[in-house]
Amino acid sequence: MFHAPILPRARKRSRPVEAAVPRREGVKFEDVRLYLVERKMGRSRRSFLTHLARSKGFIVDDVLSDEVTHVVSEDSQASSLWKWLQECVPKNLPNMRVLDISWFTDSMREGRPVAVETRHLIQDTLPEVPTPTSVSTVSQYACQRRTTTENNNKILTDAFEVLAESYEFNELEGPCLAFRRAASVLKSLPRALQRVEETQDLPCLGEHTKAVMEEILQYGHAFEVEKILSDERYQTLKLFTSVFGVGPKTAEKWYRRGLRSFSAALADRSIHLNRMQQSGFLHYGDISRAVSKAEAQALRSIIDEAVHAITSDAVLALTGGFCRGKEFGHDVDFIVTTPELGKEESLLPSLINRLTKQGILLYCDYQASTFDLSKLPSRSFEAMDHFAKCFLILRLKDSQVEGGLHIAEGDSRGWRAVRVDLVSPPMDRFAFALLGWTGSRQFERDLRRFARLERHMLLDNHALYDKTKQEFLTATTEKDIFAHLGLEYIEPCQRNA
Ligand code: CTP
Ligand code: MN
Ligand code: MN
Repeated sequence: MFHAPILPRARKRSRPVEAAVPRREGVKFEDVRLYLVERKMGRSRRSFLTHLARSKGFIVDDVLSDEVTHVVSEDSQASSLWKWLQECVPKNLPNMRVLDISWFTDSMREGRPVAVETRHLIQDTLPEVPTPTSVSTVSQYACQRRTTTENNNKILTDAFEVLAESYEFNELEGPCLAFRRAASVLKSLPRALQRVEETQDLPCLGEHTKAVMEEILQYGHAFEVEKILSDERYQTLKLFTSVFGVGPKTAEKWYRRGLRSFSAALADRSIHLNRMQQSGFLHYGDISRAVSKAEAQALRSIIDEAVHAITSDAVLALTGGFCRGKEFGHDVDFIVTTPELGKEESLLPSLINRLTKQGILLYCDYQASTFDLSKLPSRSFEAMDHFAKCFLILRLKDSQVEGGLHIAEGDSRGWRAVRVDLVSPPMDRFAFALLGWTGSRQFERDLRRFARLERHMLLDNHALYDKTKQEFLTATTEKDIFAHLGLEYIEPCQRNA
């Protein structure tokens, strides 16, 4: 136990409310927010320890809220403690560290929050919550993991994604992919990781990833990530690539010319913006704003009405992120087709015509089909499939959306611009296109990698080819494709890898 700490003289309280307000002055550790559990500890000891910690620059909250990062308890009855915590907290419990008093005393002795070690942890003994270490069979393939939209390790995965993106800007594919894979593995875990040791049975985590992770678990952030986030080149490339039609290559070109802002790019007369980029700038405010589920539903009704007016047997399916149960997306993705083979060819042009007449088509990039069955199977996966598709910007009115548009307060236009993608495969390719467009990108990558490496098969958005049998495998549903691959079926809402 700890040795005779000197209790600072209680400060005179000028106002009684002060105790409830977290004191800013004297705070040394902004990222650590303690809560001391009174049970077993007792009120007076808790008050004493609270003062002690505050005097050393720690933030100690009187109330347990989602803001708390470290819960400290003297209750050795782990199960009753966890039960109590689960009843009274917060959604954030998976991200909190639940610690034994020994962590607190070590930290007081050191005068700083010490690294959390195994001996400090009060393990959750409730049987229904599996711990990450018990999940010893996490697959290296995202298509063998179930990943919902609930990410229990967001602090870590956000950091990994920054690193991946930075490597992508520097065209270092290997490390970029490594961080994307690591992030994807962590997204599938049922709870927050608390210690690096818990990752020992997890795939796709190398030395570099683990070092970053360890730093974040200890300090709440990692030096390498902070450095990237404050880097001018990273910030500028991030800004430029946020414009519809501007990829990493163009962004790099503008950066090399010394451009650092939109106004500089728009003022530079040597820069020629293509049609897509012009629309990207024109509607920047709207299309850089997330699209809500209600807005996606409204667009579905609009397109559904339009395609059925064109042909009564039209088939429309929502795909992409919204099909995976996301609340928000950067666009809305649809597949449209008709049962009669070949008839789908005229579907998108007719639809575009109709949307134009309705006055809601703000931008359209239509690409006719280049799909050729005789060119299959394709050995190298191409970024784009060969089906007819269009990338649109549509005008969506407030009155069309249940609960209204997802726009900024004070925006009184009554409409917004939304990005919509449509793809139109022949009906016999529907299942492959749906599987390919439902995503996530990481899930797709691993489906193809799994098919190739584990099954000696080639999968893309058009077809599945068995190299051993030298034949195409047919499918009318996504389930058929999973079955051909010998994979357990994974629902779209579990493909958020
Ligand atoms: N896709 C594709 N070919 C393209 C564009 C997209 O196969 N030319 C697939 C991607 O593999 C992805 C899916 O379509 O899985 C949806 O892409 P996108 O809209 O970019 O991503 P979402 O997962 O829908 O994410 P968001 O919600 O941000 O739109
Ligand atoms: Mn999408
Ligand atoms: Mn899309």
